[in-house]
Amino acid sequence: MSERSAAREYRIRSYVLRAGRMSDAQRRSYETLFPRYGIPFDAIALDYTSVFGKRNPLIIEIGFGMGIATAMIAEANPSVNYLGIEVYRPGIGKLLWEIERRNLSNVRIIEHDVVETLERMIPAASVAGFHIFFPDPWPKKRHHKRRLITRPFTGLLASRLAPGGYLYMVTDWAEYGDWALAELSATQGLLNAYDGFALPQSWRPETRFERKGIEKQHIVRELYFKQG
Ligand SMILES: C[S@@+](CC[C@H](N)C(=O)[O-])C[C@H]1O[C@@H](n2cnc3c(N)ncnc32)[C@H](O)[C@@H]1O
Repeated sequence: MSERSAAREYRIRSYVLRAGRMSDAQRRSYETLFPRYGIPFDAIALDYTSVFGKRNPLIIEIGFGMGIATAMIAEANPSVNYLGIEVYRPGIGKLLWEIERRNLSNVRIIEHDVVETLERMIPAASVAGFHIFFPDPWPKKRHHKRRLITRPFTGLLASRLAPGGYLYMVTDWAEYGDWALAELSATQGLLNAYDGFALPQSWRPETRFERKGIEKQHIVRELYFKQG
């Protein structure tokens, strides 16, 4: 194993693959629809026009979970392309079903770790926006190193944003909100569009994790940065 692949092998991941049970419907969707809407992970830069058939701005959603918000946003914005990156297969099955049910032609999915996907498949300065809704908060101190919104990964996100692009993150974990605000503010190539936390973006549908957080009386914090 080369030194580089060894480093990749032992890199701390922001997720632990859950052996979540797939419903029969999710499994069927995954088996029949992934060949149509899924993009296999590969170490080659994506050609967006050939993938989507149309050269529209590209938004990447990281960790879409069950993907309902993804499908709703994509349906409301047919002239924008959406690429969802997720490792949770039952959720991928669910979003595939939503793509089919809503007849969406502007959504594609990559089933892989987002860090490697951005490094290998997403060209620099090519993304109009990142959506990161309720990333795993990893609340225990010894797990903070697993948090996705941490440098140097935030620098990788910044490098993939096109001029005028944005990064929109939402969390219901107050201390992760403070952490992310500090990390993003210290990232070269990103500028806070607000003074501190952002105002709620009214176009964003509620997500599954958001609902669970609100049930536990968590307060939702929004962060909105621009490329620059
Ligand atoms: C707490 S859930 C939030 C799901 C959804 N956005 C919502 O709000 O309901 C975080 C999701 O991020 C995914 N995830 C975490 N790290 C990831 C990574 N490195 N690459 C791809 N997906 C990741 C997890 O599998 C999980 O589904």
